[in-house]
Amino acid sequence: MKLDFTNKIILVTGGTRGIGKQIAEDFHALGGTVLITGTHAEQIEELNNVSLKSGERKHFFCVNFTSSQSVDQFLVQLAEYSKIDVLINNAGLNKHNSVENIITAEWDDMMAVNVTAPFKLIRDVSPRMIENNYGRIINIASIFSKIGKERRTCYTTTKFGVDGLTLGVSNDLSRYNILVNTVSPGFIMTDMTRTNLSQKEIEDLTQQIPAKRMGQVQDISRAVIFLASDLNSYITGQNIVVDGGFTNV
Ligand code: NAI
Repeated sequence: MKLDFTNKIILVTGGTRGIGKQIAEDFHALGGTVLITGTHAEQIEELNNVSLKSGERKHFFCVNFTSSQSVDQFLVQLAEYSKIDVLINNAGLNKHNSVENIITAEWDDMMAVNVTAPFKLIRDVSPRMIENNYGRIINIASIFSKIGKERRTCYTTTKFGVDGLTLGVSNDLSRYNILVNTVSPGFIMTDMTRTNLSQKEIEDLTQQIPAKRMGQVQDISRAVIFLASDLNSYITGQNIVVDGGFTNV
């Protein structure tokens, strides 16, 4: 048995940078056709031009998950695809604030990007997966779907929600050979981490991680690829924590 996504169509949200970019590149390298969302129109146009010129199987879409109109437009574009084999709900927003300072717009945006958009995409693609009797859905949560920390109320709420979504959906869809799982990254070196943590915090954290290093995007992508591949035939409804052991100590 080998890792092969030839003839598979994989949708990766938030795939223009960070963890999502690595996931999209790995699926592409393994033969898949990858549909990738990002939020900057000019960048998306440029990426589509490059992809077209080099004959890559990558198609980029500009979508803002805080706008239901933008999501609806994207769903219309997605309807052109007769099948989506794999859905990776990766896009995420992470703003830190103590509960008494969270403004409603911030709460609504994080709920929209982290929870509502994954739900709408699953609701949209699952009929096609059911028809094919095949599907793999992986929702990217966080160690904050397992633990909490100060100034993380909103993020933690949404990431517990992401895993709740996985649990609920897996109970509805596993009978159709649609396996649904959560991958929960620990501290991974991406733009999100560089924005949210100081160099000192990163050094301190590294010491607290049993593996004694921050995670790399590849650490997460490998777990996702495994769960999406035919190597996974019976894991569903699980939350796989990829954190170098951080939540165990
Ligand atoms: P990032 O900030 O580098 O990328 C986030 C992605 O989400 C971007 O591609 C962006 O286009 C997309 N996104 C943000 N706002 C959006 C919006 N309004 N509409 C549509 N798309 C939007 O983040 P990173 O680090 O690559 O994170 C990816 C996922 O992994 C997120 O769900 C994040 O919560 C999760 N995660 C990341 C960790 C880390 O240490 N970097 C740790 C735990 C979880």
